[in-house]
Amino acid sequence: MDRIRIRGGNRLTGEISISGAKNAALPLMAASLLSDAPLTLGNLPHLADISTLASLLGVLGVEIAMEGDAPKGGHVGRVLTLHARKITSTTAPYDLVRQMRASILVLGGLVAREGVAKVSLPGGCAIGNRPVDLHLKGLEQLGAAIDVQGGYIEARAPKGLTGAHIVFPFVSVGATENLMIAATLARGETVLANAAREPEVVDLANCLVAMGAKIAGIGSGTLTIQGVTSLHGASHEVVPDRIETGTYALAAAMTGGDVELKGADPAQNEALFEKLREAGVRVTATEGGVRVTPGRGRVRGVDVMTEPYPGFPTDLQAQMMALMVIGSGVAMITETIFENRFMHVSELSRMGAEITVHGASAMVRGVKALAGAEVMATDLRASVSLVLAGLVAEGETIISRVYHLDRGYERLVEKLAACGADIERLSN
Ligand code: UD1
Repeated sequence: MDRIRIRGGNRLTGEISISGAKNAALPLMAASLLSDAPLTLGNLPHLADISTLASLLGVLGVEIAMEGDAPKGGHVGRVLTLHARKITSTTAPYDLVRQMRASILVLGGLVAREGVAKVSLPGGCAIGNRPVDLHLKGLEQLGAAIDVQGGYIEARAPKGLTGAHIVFPFVSVGATENLMIAATLARGETVLANAAREPEVVDLANCLVAMGAKIAGIGSGTLTIQGVTSLHGASHEVVPDRIETGTYALAAAMTGGDVELKGADPAQNEALFEKLREAGVRVTATEGGVRVTPGRGRVRGVDVMTEPYPGFPTDLQAQMMALMVIGSGVAMITETIFENRFMHVSELSRMGAEITVHGASAMVRGVKALAGAEVMATDLRASVSLVLAGLVAEGETIISRVYHLDRGYERLVEKLAACGADIERLSN
């Protein structure tokens, strides 16, 4: 298994191109199931999760063609055309679904278009229980009969789905996406109240509208969808990855670096940038993205609580903690979205961090220096926080189980090395 070796101490300087957002690309790909015409997605990141979903969609009958890099220059990734001319299977098998929880996103599109879907339950996950009850309850409200048996969810709506008023008891990104996808082809009006407002949800809604869906309230907590009988093809550019942006902004801040994040959208990261400024880091919007430069002296400890968008993202909690570990003073970091999302704490502690966890909160006492160590990646965002710590730790840090990083960070080693980090991937 590959590992990453970092020798800490280098300031990051230069430019990093921000890729398309993984969490936007996945639901957009799933939306291709809704139409028998092609959906072309530009600015797709090259990531393991994208390949996993492409394989799953292929099993369902979606023809997938890669058109290579778009000829626009700049930071445009690969262009993918997904053509669900005919759905040849309505079963999403366990061996593909278990690799990635977001596979559940095929459920809404399949049942809306075919009237039937059988999708493996995604199962456990390192960052908590993560049930799919909201997805299933919502589909039931849209008229589907749901049966969970032998580890599979079976949804049936032979006469099609019917619009409904669905109030989510709490905000769920995936359930909002799945039900929005399903409701586009339901008869009549669907209202999704207490819907997620994440930029990735907005991106999906905009793409569905480009495919002919009728959706009002995009970007708000209430989405109103008027069902249509069919959707057509469209071309859509995936939004920039705000989590990748935030991760590199934090990497720059940790190393006292000066980095421009090209292609980043500052409006999508306001919660993080506000906290960075409070901590004493300079963040400014530039013509092409965002620039992070050091303030005076050591970064200050600031308290952070994760919340649904536009609050501070849970997907940046581990990386923010890495910054606080070397800050001055104390920081209280509270995780409200997922239970058990502090797996990085024990690994950061092995590098010299002083962190005490009480329930959903972690108290971080800043230390002056970290020491390199052998550490283990446990999930996508936890593992990148170890990379950030390694960038400033004295000596060598070796991170194993790098496949977690491959799921969500495109060319991580190359992007950091180009800004001066002493980092390399070791294959064995
Ligand atoms: C998405 C993101 C993930 C991010 C998360 C929260 C993708 C592919 N993944 O995950 O990176 O960390 O949003 O911003 O976009 N829940 C239930 N029942 C459900 C659904 C969710 O109890 O049916 C709970 C979850 O366990 C969690 C909370 O709701 O505690 C929020 O989860 P949700 O927003 O659904 O996360 P995902 O869509 O899985």
